[in-house]
Amino acid sequence: MPETRTVIFVGSSRSTGNTAELASSVASKLKASVIDLNQYRIAPFDYEFRNRDDDFLTLMNQVLSFDRIILATPMYWYSPSAIMKIFMDRISDLLKVEKDLGRQLRTKKAALLGTGYDAIPAACFEQVFQHTFDYLGMGYEGMLYASCQDDFIHAEHALAIEKFTEALHAE
Ligand SMILES: Cc1cc2nc3c(=O)[nH]c(=O)nc-3n(C[C@H](O)[C@H](O)[C@H](O)COP(=O)(O)O)c2cc1C
Repeated sequence: MPETRTVIFVGSSRSTGNTAELASSVASKLKASVIDLNQYRIAPFDYEFRNRDDDFLTLMNQVLSFDRIILATPMYWYSPSAIMKIFMDRISDLLKVEKDLGRQLRTKKAALLGTGYDAIPAACFEQVFQHTFDYLGMGYEGMLYASCQDDFIHAEHALAIEKFTEALHAE
């Protein structure tokens, strides 16, 4: 069977923080590509679509060649980071104007990487993604959450990363 091609979008206020570390560990296990949203110009959703010339559509055109899309975000106030939320809002463009692209999302798998201070994330954090992936018709494969008291310490999460990536491989 051909390898599932995975892309991980990292949306954090820092490009080398805990979420980026978690994403990079998962990426090396899955041989996934990593895209740091900080490197792209993605404007907030606009009902008039006056932002069509920013990087969002070009990025999504590339991304649709992958089989699995993983979103990686820190938990900021029990929610996705602002940059991740802007990215998610812009997926609405694919339902309204670029419908062909939107339809292709239905063939994709999806998963979530989260980091936060709390030992266990509030249920609402994952629910936002579960509902969104469900609405988009994407096959949600679950979340890996890494609790970080301070910096991301790889050894503390190595087993969970191993289990999570093995489960994705087995799908
Ligand atoms: C603005 C802000 C809000 C936060 N809100 C929460 C929260 O609601 N729950 C939590 O457990 N940690 C919270 N944290 C801690 C971060 O989720 C945690 O430090 C995370 O690993 C940071 O990831 P990053 O390095 O990718 O930004 C918050 C941190 C910031 C900066």
